Amino acid sequence: MADTQRHPFLHGLSKHRGAPPTVVVIFGASGDLTARKLIPAVYNLGLDSLLPTDFYLIGFGRKPIPDDEFRTLAADAIKEFSRRELQPEAWKRIAANTSYVAGGYDDPDAFQRLKEHIDAIEKKLGREVQSLFYISTPPSVFTPILENLGAAGLAEKYAGQALQSKVIIEKPFGRDLASAQALNGTLRKYFTEPQVFRIDHYLGKETVQDLLVQRFSNAIFEPLWNRNFISSVQITVAEEVGVGSRGGYYEQSGALRDMIQNHTMQLLALTAMEPPVSLDAEAIRDEKVRLLRAIQPLRTGAEGDVVRAHYAAGMTGGKPVPGYREEEGINPDSATETYAAIRLSINNWRWQGVPFYLRSGKRMARRVSEIAVTFRRPPGTLFAEGDRFQLASNTLSFQIQPDEGLSMILNAKIPGLETRTQPVKMNFRYSTTFGSNTPEAYERLVLDAMIGDGTLFIRGDETEQSWKIYTPVLEAWAAAGQQGLESYPAGSWGPTAAEALLAKNHDVWRQP
Ligand code: NDP
Ligand code: BG6
Repeated sequence: MADTQRHPFLHGLSKHRGAPPTVVVIFGASGDLTARKLIPAVYNLGLDSLLPTDFYLIGFGRKPIPDDEFRTLAADAIKEFSRRELQPEAWKRIAANTSYVAGGYDDPDAFQRLKEHIDAIEKKLGREVQSLFYISTPPSVFTPILENLGAAGLAEKYAGQALQSKVIIEKPFGRDLASAQALNGTLRKYFTEPQVFRIDHYLGKETVQDLLVQRFSNAIFEPLWNRNFISSVQITVAEEVGVGSRGGYYEQSGALRDMIQNHTMQLLALTAMEPPVSLDAEAIRDEKVRLLRAIQPLRTGAEGDVVRAHYAAGMTGGKPVPGYREEEGINPDSATETYAAIRLSINNWRWQGVPFYLRSGKRMARRVSEIAVTFRRPPGTLFAEGDRFQLASNTLSFQIQPDEGLSMILNAKIPGLETRTQPVKMNFRYSTTFGSNTPEAYERLVLDAMIGDGTLFIRGDETEQSWKIYTPVLEAWAAAGQQGLESYPAGSWGPTAAEALLAKNHDVWRQP
């Protein structure tokens, strides 16, 4: 089977998937993401014998770092951030083929040096290798890197399709529709779509992959998965952390660009899309795009579908924390939102009339990501809400993180001679059933890119479709400045104004 036809749902992390000989080049190799996620991901793939026998790692960046020092930095990153301890023998095998190339992202000579370095690896090996370029720099240099890869001939196809160069590009993919289209245009100049892997690390999370399995491998859900049985869907991606040391980036981004446009929209698409005709990457991505197309334009303003807010001083983990505008690197008059809530309508046969509520924020009451599907109530002819009958709507919730699992709220009889009812929760927890040391999202995603599987990555038209929904909102917010920007105390569940979004449908936000 050609590598491009493989996909994770069918093949899993099988040792037999066999990535071809590969050189992974990380641009921005001295950065935070490289240390916290990428190097540990490569190491853990190595530990599981999932790297090809001929595997090479090259760091690239402006800072001159000798090879030895880069290897030491990488080992330190593994010690600090890997889910499994550094085993010297396993690391030695990867370290032996790890090196560093210093140079500017806009310097054509540096890319020639990179090409010569890769050529030398191929010469030593006596065969061609595929190059996987991981762009892990701030977005300001995405375009120069792509242009220089193209100009140096590094994006060109090799003889066999399996050995085509590939590029993984970090988020944010653009900051609005026009910039996303421009970035797609640059990519298309040098790469074909199957060579491009736009990352959204939520797709690499085990629980997110399990969404499709739950929906389409269990007969009980799909017949109910529509407007006749479901009254609303809530998607929450809440973080306890504040903006931390990423103030410079976050000021230019905000919750809508940082989380809603990408992570929560991916959760929405997988929850609401039609069954794909197969588990093929294109079939799944086609359905996600179709779903995004059916989303109605969002209304802004007082009675609109969107609420934005920033956190004020409050308490997190029992400690006082400053408000967003008092954080380091943040403009004291900032109009950047750290919280956004959205009410979406999907105008298709399955979902018309069912509100989808999305919210994401920093410094919220606790870290939790979940998708909660609430079902319509049965007729109240036998059990009507009252003294004896405490009834809740059936709610199925996918807990994406932490404490990954699935739970269902049902109504049950309280044991006793009198008939009384109470809502109860039926729980499935991944850690109890499967243990807790599962692969990190980046492990799966780096491996999938190596074998050319785009299922868990965002296609170009998909990202543009999502930006089409949010660009008018971002423009309206930019024009309004501070007006309409709410606040919420750090450590809370968000601004009270967000409640009004749900009140129209007599819904309330869950406190997961
Ligand atoms: P960093 O700010 O750590 O930057 C990575 C590297 O890029 C730096 O070590 C530096 O290397 C180079 N760099 C930094 N600033 C500039 C600049 N202004 N111009 C050119 N080069 C620069 O970024 P992260 O590692 O945090 O993030 C990398 C990418 O991953 C970003 O696109 C980010 O949005 C995305 N991302 C990050 C996450 C995270 O948790 N960190 C989470 C999700 C996505 P040198 O000076 O050696 O060239
Ligand atoms: C990143 C955002 O994409 O996702 C961060 O840029 C956010 O602001 C992070 O903290 C959350 O990821 P996770 O996997 O910790 O939920």
